[in-house]
Amino acid sequence: MLKSIVAIFTFLIVFSSCEETAKEKNTPKEKGVTEKKEPLQVYTHSEMAAFMEEMYKEHKTIKRKLEAGEKIDSLPYNLLHLHTKTFTTPSDYDTTYRQFATAFIEVEKLIVSDTSNALEHYNQAINLCISCHQIKCTGPIPRIKKLKIPIP
Ligand code: HEC
Repeated sequence: MLKSIVAIFTFLIVFSSCEETAKEKNTPKEKGVTEKKEPLQVYTHSEMAAFMEEMYKEHKTIKRKLEAGEKIDSLPYNLLHLHTKTFTTPSDYDTTYRQFATAFIEVEKLIVSDTSNALEHYNQAINLCISCHQIKCTGPIPRIKKLKIPIP
């Protein structure tokens, strides 16, 4: 009985969130569970996961530039990809996702168009990355949090 509960729980953890969480949660061994080889999970990076990684990398650059007092005059990634790339879990593209994506895109554009408040817009965009991830994919949140610019 207990064993099957643990098994179901593990199953939920692996399949309800994206890659990073799944990897982390797989490592610790539950007490009392005899070691059983789990079927091999073959993860391929979805288009969306790859795009997210690209955005992550580019935001590090944007952060560095803003901290150096530079202006951002264009965004080096295509925000429309948030609506067109394919997901690891296709059902992730739901109403909640779309609402967050729309809000995120609006704020991202402000980084370029309202340069005198670029820092605030940038941080708000990072907050929206985090909000969407709290619902969709909690794994990368600690990494995303580091993208914020501390404003004294
Ligand atoms: C509208 C919701 C939403 C927003 C906004 C969003 N993400 Fe994501 N993110 C997702 C979803 C959903 C996935 C899982 C994609 C998949 O597995 O196909 C994901 C995956 C990721 C991943 C993990 C990719 C992997 O290796 O599996 C990273 C890193 C990431 N996002 C970073 C960011 C950053 C940085 C931002 C903001 C600049 C951001 N995300 C904004 C929903 C969002």
